Amino acid sequence: PAKLNEAISPLDWLLGNWESVEPGEGSFPSLKPFRYTEALHFTQVGQPIINFMFNASDVETKKPLHRECGFIRMQTGTNRVAFIVAQNSGLVEVEEGELVGKKLSLHTHALARTSFAKEPHVKEVSRVFQLQPDGKLEQTVSMSTDKQPMTQHLHITYSRLP
Ligand code: HEM
Repeated sequence: PAKLNEAISPLDWLLGNWESVEPGEGSFPSLKPFRYTEALHFTQVGQPIINFMFNASDVETKKPLHRECGFIRMQTGTNRVAFIVAQNSGLVEVEEGELVGKKLSLHTHALARTSFAKEPHVKEVSRVFQLQPDGKLEQTVSMSTDKQPMTQHLHITYSRLP
């Protein structure tokens, strides 16, 4: 692998491959609660950037569901992080936030979608990645739509693959 760029060393704990230990929990006021599995891949090629791919699947049928990919950058000399993401649903977002210890908190800074994206439309996303003391990674995602205020949509814990 390429030598790690110093600019992203505060996020080196994300690098590698992760898989949900137990199924993640999906929720939203308008949805029947659901469960899913998800694999995360964070890689780097020596640039001041982390590349990522997240692939979620149906627990029982293993059918691919939600997919996201993008890039993570840090503002030099600060703890500010940009999370640039494209989702298979037709949503693209720039999320921004802060890294405090091994906790990365992000919130929508800019958002766009395809003209024919399914309704309801997402208005804002908040997400937190946190490395647990036992080495597991936790992600929590909340969102608001044009029908619902900010509410939790996803909660999941991953373990690192060898
Ligand atoms: C539904 C957004 C990630 C599974 C929805 C809805 C929205 C949405 C707006 C419709 C809610 C409604 O009808 O009121 C997002 C956003 C995500 C995300 C912004 C990422 C930031 C995921 C992931 C999964 C998932 C990782 C894992 C499988 C579902 C399911 C439904 C749903 C099963 C209900 C059926 C459907 O509408 O397709 N999501 N979602 N979502 N989401 Fe997500």
